[in-house]
Amino acid sequence: MKALILVGGFGTRLRPLTLSVPKPLVDFANKPMILHQIEALKAIGVTEVVLAINYQPEVMLNFLKDFEAKLEIKITCSQETEPLGTAGPLALARDKLIDDSGEPFFVLNSDVISEYPLKEMIEFHKSHGGEASIMVTKVDEPSKYGVVVMEESTGQVERFVEKPKLFVGNKINAGIYLLNPSVLDRIELRPTSIEKEVFPKIASEKKLYAMVLPGFWMDIGQPRDYITGLRLYLESLKKKSSPKLASGTHIIGNVLVDESAKIGEGCLIGPDVAIGPGCVVESGVRLSRCTVMRGVRIKKHACISSSIIGWHSTVGQWARVENMTILGEDVHVGDEIYSNGGVVLPHKEIKSSILKPEIVM
Ligand code: GDD
Ligand code: MG
Repeated sequence: MKALILVGGFGTRLRPLTLSVPKPLVDFANKPMILHQIEALKAIGVTEVVLAINYQPEVMLNFLKDFEAKLEIKITCSQETEPLGTAGPLALARDKLIDDSGEPFFVLNSDVISEYPLKEMIEFHKSHGGEASIMVTKVDEPSKYGVVVMEESTGQVERFVEKPKLFVGNKINAGIYLLNPSVLDRIELRPTSIEKEVFPKIASEKKLYAMVLPGFWMDIGQPRDYITGLRLYLESLKKKSSPKLASGTHIIGNVLVDESAKIGEGCLIGPDVAIGPGCVVESGVRLSRCTVMRGVRIKKHACISSSIIGWHSTVGQWARVENMTILGEDVHVGDEIYSNGGVVLPHKEIKSSILKPEIVM
């Protein structure tokens, strides 16, 4: 079985992290986002993943080379010379996706995180006999997604409306599809949207089916959603009694600490924290609802909440970093500095406090 991941886009909403690496390589729960997806695909028997990409393919391929061998899965790129949207890349990769088997293939948005119930999706797809299956989930704020109106008992989609201005329903497209090869015959090689042009058409022919995704789901392409996504992800590890979660008197709630990270005396960590490889957290540090990426040093008595600390940054002693502060790669926050929602570009040194949310260039 094959799969295509829609990787394109510049990930502007996740800057400054995406100034260092393409969005799918940004770490989430101590692992690049895209690896969560590739591992889930591998687990249900996908043998080849095509990355539909429109910039920096070398960076992605170089990075994924190691994993290709480790996971025993073929990873190739299909590169656009102009952004082809969410459907055009399927037409471009047509020859890679189709083989003699006539099997359906998966398509994933690269920025969605869930328990990836792909096995269940294959069963669902076989059971309805339509042309395409999409995964849907319920959200409180449907207007920023593709909204699906479906017949509850069969899952048959009646309407698909991308980013509706008026309320149509609260079940939204989760960005995980299983498509018959015939769907490719509906897509032209030009910039085009699967949500606006392809799905509404298949729905009107009553051949589009939706399955309600069991478990959690989040589009983690924006800082606030990324932090919420981490909470949901860790909660799902907890439910599965995952041995990956940290324990100890200094841990509150769900926390992930890479085995190579060092935690000092008297720290209080959690809930909803991920600490990456090679991090050093000195004594008396307080961390909650945050991600601390590979190689970061947090000095004594610093306090970080609701923030993302990019690779190889340092946070000075007694510093207070909070309220959606996002530090890019290799940022150095001085001792006793306060950051209230600062968004700091890579390689900066912060010598005076950031009192209100702003971008620091
Ligand atoms: N190769 C390629 N080329 N990929 C692209 C392009 C392009 O020109 N444009 C976007 N993508 C990729 C993005 O990287 C992402 O993985 C996916 O297509 C969806 O694009 P987003 O920009 O993240 O769209 P969205 O989040 O506003 O909406 C989409 O996702 C929602 C769920 O998170 C839609 O599919 C909605 O219907 C859906 O509800
Ligand atoms: Mg998105």
